[in-house]
Amino acid sequence: MALVNTKKMFEMAYKNGYAIGAFNVNNMEMTQGIVEAVAQEKSPLILQVSRGARKYAGISYLRAIIDTAVTENPDIPIVMHLDHGDTFETCKQFVDDGFTSVMIDASSKPFEENIKITKQVVEYAHDHGVVVEAELGQLGGIEEDVVGVEDIRKHLADPAQVEEFVAKSGCDSLAVACGTSHGAYKFKSEPKLAFDIIQEIAERLPGFPLVMHGSSSVPREFIDLINKYGGNMPNAMGVPEEAVGKAAKMAICKVNIDTDLRLAVTAKIRQVCVEKPSEFDPRKFLGPGREAIKEMVRHKLHVLGCAGKAAECA
Ligand code: G3H
Ligand code: 13P
Ligand code: ZN
Repeated sequence: MALVNTKKMFEMAYKNGYAIGAFNVNNMEMTQGIVEAVAQEKSPLILQVSRGARKYAGISYLRAIIDTAVTENPDIPIVMHLDHGDTFETCKQFVDDGFTSVMIDASSKPFEENIKITKQVVEYAHDHGVVVEAELGQLGGIEEDVVGVEDIRKHLADPAQVEEFVAKSGCDSLAVACGTSHGAYKFKSEPKLAFDIIQEIAERLPGFPLVMHGSSSVPREFIDLINKYGGNMPNAMGVPEEAVGKAAKMAICKVNIDTDLRLAVTAKIRQVCVEKPSEFDPRKFLGPGREAIKEMVRHKLHVLGCAGKAAECA
């Protein structure tokens, strides 16, 4: 039985100074690329479903794809996670649908309301053996009404709030805004993470697992391929891998990656389109995309330090 919640994974990640990769899935090929990488590297895995993924593929298809990945990889502990659940009802639906972990993102609400909604989700989820990730501070880039890149530093998590938030809400892990944002344009100048905030939160919550969203590094090789084959992504910039690796050694136990998967697939599709203009078999585009994801994820697992850790997390 390889479908698990995050409890053991986070315990081991915290204790041994690494982080678990949480990768967003939208279709079969992207899921296969990720799962083939973790199987090869013997790594624990969190597969997560965003709001866009729900809208694009629907929960039943995504569940069936993830279920197949779980069945085919009995030695790999896999978490099925709802990414950025926006309401109690959404989280409840995913708990009822067999997900083992849900995120309630009420971080745009006032502090007391964030606690109240999170607590409601925690009570329901815990009754069903499901763990809950909550969020403090605000990340840029996910929705138009949420902060833009230039405002990020004004919306970091406030360390003074974390003990009260965790004690009152009962959440199992906490996503902390620490200078990252979603998407491919994270920084306008030198990339900087607020390691001081991560450190202070870790000291206030000893042993408590933290989560870093917006952790894609936006690899140069993919941006160069995209731009070479007709794309237009000037000024794309992500979180340097050294910074991701440093956070993973601290209290960050879960690292969210979506953009890098999209870049890998897009780069390969563009390359095939240009180099083989007579090609019309989608498998000839999606296959190389799947392979690029696999190689990229294999590399990430080493950056995060979770390669080879499947057995201790099971
Ligand atoms: O949740 C974070 C994602 O990167 C945004 O994904 O566009 O599929 O909702 P989405
Ligand atoms: P990236 O856009 O940096 O991949 O972040 C994804 C994320 O945080 C999903 O919740
Ligand atoms: Zn996110």
